[in-house]
Amino acid sequence: MTARIAVLASGGGSNLQAILDQLESLGAATPARVALVASDRTDAGALERGRRAGAEALVLSREQRGDPLADLLAERDVDLVVLAGYLRHVPDAVTRRWRGRIVNIHPALLPAFGGRGMYGHHVHAAVLRAGVRVSGPTVHFVDEEFDRGAIIAQWPVPVAAHDTPETLGQRVLRVEHVLYPRVVRALAEGRVRLGDDGRAIGVFDLASSPTAGFLPAASDASLPDALDRLLAR
Ligand code: GRF
Repeated sequence: MTARIAVLASGGGSNLQAILDQLESLGAATPARVALVASDRTDAGALERGRRAGAEALVLSREQRGDPLADLLAERDVDLVVLAGYLRHVPDAVTRRWRGRIVNIHPALLPAFGGRGMYGHHVHAAVLRAGVRVSGPTVHFVDEEFDRGAIIAQWPVPVAAHDTPETLGQRVLRVEHVLYPRVVRALAEGRVRLGDDGRAIGVFDLASSPTAGFLPAASDASLPDALDRLLAR
């Protein structure tokens, strides 16, 4: 059975695009397809990307962003909910019903630099202010609190001395585009799940890999291969 994904997005949707491209590249073997793209913003580029890929694209009214969102997703037979740059709080009715089947990507290494108000430019500016030398995306299950759910995958990205929030953000985003589609695929294939103890279980257990300390240059074209090798151990 092909899982039906709903993507919630507020912005340009480059992560949505990476997911669409990956699923498309799998052809008939794809474990999932994006059935719905929903946004709180009429001008979200993600809507057009969804439409182009044959998904239903819809703008959520204020009312629909609340608890009724759960009914809307249920009506569409949604199996997995993927947040890709969605800036609103997801109502508890959704996070409870899709527990273990709803994920988000955050552009820093959680639990640092997360929480309410920590999005986009604000995240990377805070990372630079703190002076940390490593940042990178975190993919996690979504629960009732912003950026708090069980961590599925993280990927280290070096912070350069000359970085601005923009240059760091671009470097992290490139890695997001490689990492997020792989996690979504693994989730759809049942290779990643939420354990009874509230922690993630699955192939993204990088600590057990001999190459876990490997820090790729994010601009390196070999990044997708490196990640595939690491996950295929
Ligand atoms: C990404 O940086 C993601 O980590 C964050 O929002 C941004 C979305 O970008 N949650 P895009 O709309 O996918 O291009």
